[in-house]
Amino acid sequence: MAIQTIRTPPYPIDAQFVERWSPRAFTLDPIDERTLLTILEAARWGPSSHNAQPWRFMYARRDTESWEMFLSFLSDFNRSWATRAAAIIVVASMRTFRMPGKDEEVPLLTHSFDAGAAWAFLALQASLSGWGAHALAGINSEKIRSDLDIPDNFAVEACVALGQAGDATLLPDSLRAREMPSDRKPLSDIAAEGRFIGGS
Ligand SMILES: Cc1cc2nc3c(=O)[nH]c(=O)nc-3n(C[C@H](O)[C@H](O)[C@H](O)COP(=O)(O)O)c2cc1C
Repeated sequence: MAIQTIRTPPYPIDAQFVERWSPRAFTLDPIDERTLLTILEAARWGPSSHNAQPWRFMYARRDTESWEMFLSFLSDFNRSWATRAAAIIVVASMRTFRMPGKDEEVPLLTHSFDAGAAWAFLALQASLSGWGAHALAGINSEKIRSDLDIPDNFAVEACVALGQAGDATLLPDSLRAREMPSDRKPLSDIAAEGRFIGGS
């Protein structure tokens, strides 16, 4: 199977970390709201600085009233395949935080880092539940902000396309060859004791 041949971690991590990947070829299976909320529930348990939980998730399931609007948030490239997704989720995060017992809002410098942790939990739960979650930075953030009335103290982080992974033949020709789990840089390129590692 592709995942086992391409992804062979030399250290003994749990299989869920290499079994998660980001498919683009989706079957047209719909997702029921309970399953979608189960996946978002995992995101809720992400860690965040001050436990501020700055993440927010707005979603639309395919063929519901908001679907066309959510599809319009994506770049042409992403829309070309994510149109078959079962759901699109917008991830936003609050840039400010009110300390318990205080009146004023202070900057929450970790809002994006925290939202990234929540996204990772979401993606892992999706994978464990048999769904593919694919994060998307190719989005029109200003349109998202405007259409969803997202205030300025929230950052629009990314979108996520969620669907059942299908066969690569479901994709436009140009995307078929890329439809497989990817590898990673070696650990020694990204982690070292007591010194900074550069590189690209
Ligand atoms: C924040 C973020 C933004 C991404 N944006 C896009 C995107 O706009 N379009 C796309 O096709 N893939 C996008 N990806 C998917 C990445 O290319 C993918 O996660 C990466 O190649 C690793 O592959 P894997 O998730 O299958 O392990 C994005 C991933 C992340 C985490």
